[in-house]
Amino acid sequence: MVQLLNMKSLREIIKEADEKGVAVGHFNISNLEGLHGIYNAAKKLSVPVIIGLSEGEEEFVGKEEGVALIKALRERDNFPIYLNADHHYSFESVKAAIDAGYDSVIIDCAKLPLEENIALTKKCVDYAHEVNKKFNRDVLVEAELGFIGQSSKMLDAVPDGVSEATMTKPEDAKTFVEATGIDMLAPSVGNVHGMVRSGNPRLHPDRVKEIREATGIPLVLHGGSGTMDQDFVACIKNGIDIVHINTEIRVAYRKGLEEALKNMPDEVAPYKYLPEAVDAIEKVVEARLKLFNNIQ
Ligand code: 13P
Repeated sequence: MVQLLNMKSLREIIKEADEKGVAVGHFNISNLEGLHGIYNAAKKLSVPVIIGLSEGEEEFVGKEEGVALIKALRERDNFPIYLNADHHYSFESVKAAIDAGYDSVIIDCAKLPLEENIALTKKCVDYAHEVNKKFNRDVLVEAELGFIGQSSKMLDAVPDGVSEATMTKPEDAKTFVEATGIDMLAPSVGNVHGMVRSGNPRLHPDRVKEIREATGIPLVLHGGSGTMDQDFVACIKNGIDIVHINTEIRVAYRKGLEEALKNMPDEVAPYKYLPEAVDAIEKVVEARLKLFNNIQ
């Protein structure tokens, strides 16, 4: 995406967050209501925000449509809002997102053996570098090391394959970052995608610190939904620069929509019953952004 002259790049926004000891909020959308709710909250608090589109969300919203929406808001309001291709699983889908104009991409091959994860991630990094050089862009590449589950939904139990024993090891993270040249790393530090009904596992801020010291690059906390405030604060202090939230806003949207339909059983104009769903998302995002940005 083209950068306005006076607009900070996502790289600068992340650096600034790191220096201030805060984190940039990343929230996924499936539709325009999601974007409105998130953007209203970010504007109200005057803090930068990243909008995420996973492969599934992107298929529904549209790649070019997503880019056009974020670009329109950024340019109209001169506001630091960015678009990330969240959890893309192949080189082809990462390439398509970069070509469409995303600000950053996540190649997620955390399920693959380390060597294969390195090879595929490196291929994506090389492509981003090529595009950045050719078109004077600054697309960032993030990758995952350590499996944390895959679904932003309500869960009956912690996903199979996620445990304290499978958390990312600092020495593996160092090897991975050096071998791939990624800009940001998403580690496994007790976090899981989705919300476990009986409560999410606690995070391990010490592991965040060790990984950050070993790699020296910004870390991204995925699977933010259902996390205790104090765990977020400790992890941000120890090197997390971006936090991802999805399930919490999906749940808020659905509850807001159900409530609105219940209150207006005969209403057929979507713009009359959808604002309640937008407000529900906005409330969740506002609370999370306040916490991540240390706003009282
Ligand atoms: P949650 O759905 O657990 O918040 O995870 C979101 C996420 O990490 C998206 O990349």
